[in-house]
Amino acid sequence: MSDMTNEQLVKHAVEAATNAYNPYSKFSVGAALLAKNGELFVGANIENVSYGLTICAERSAFCTAITAGCREFEAIAIVASSDTPPLPCGACRQVMAEFCDGKFEVVLASINNSEKIKVYSLDDLLPHQFEM
Ligand code: THU
Repeated sequence: MSDMTNEQLVKHAVEAATNAYNPYSKFSVGAALLAKNGELFVGANIENVSYGLTICAERSAFCTAITAGCREFEAIAIVASSDTPPLPCGACRQVMAEFCDGKFEVVLASINNSEKIKVYSLDDLLPHQFEM
């Protein structure tokens, strides 16, 4: 269990969003993924001229963590340059479900109003998951 607060996690995500590569949408997203061992992995959205190849900030953070050998996670903060806290897309929710249980915390905030934080569990965001 890490002692990082949701506010601190959001700050890391806001910092990560400054590296967003978003020439097409101009929409910045940052993510900060907190592992159970206290390690932190960040991600930003990375767009492509072939739009479908775009990588979301959350998935970028998960890919970095998994590549580093980390597979147990406690929470993720996701921030965006939207007026309201950004909800993760369906694909990112499914990727979270691959590695996290239903109690995994998803902490959301708008970059311009980052003290207003919303928290959901993965169970809230992706009930009735696909299983094999
Ligand atoms: N985006 C994310 O980074 N995460 C999401 O969950 C949804 C969308 C990015 C992709 C694209 O660069 C921009 O937001 C607009 O869709």
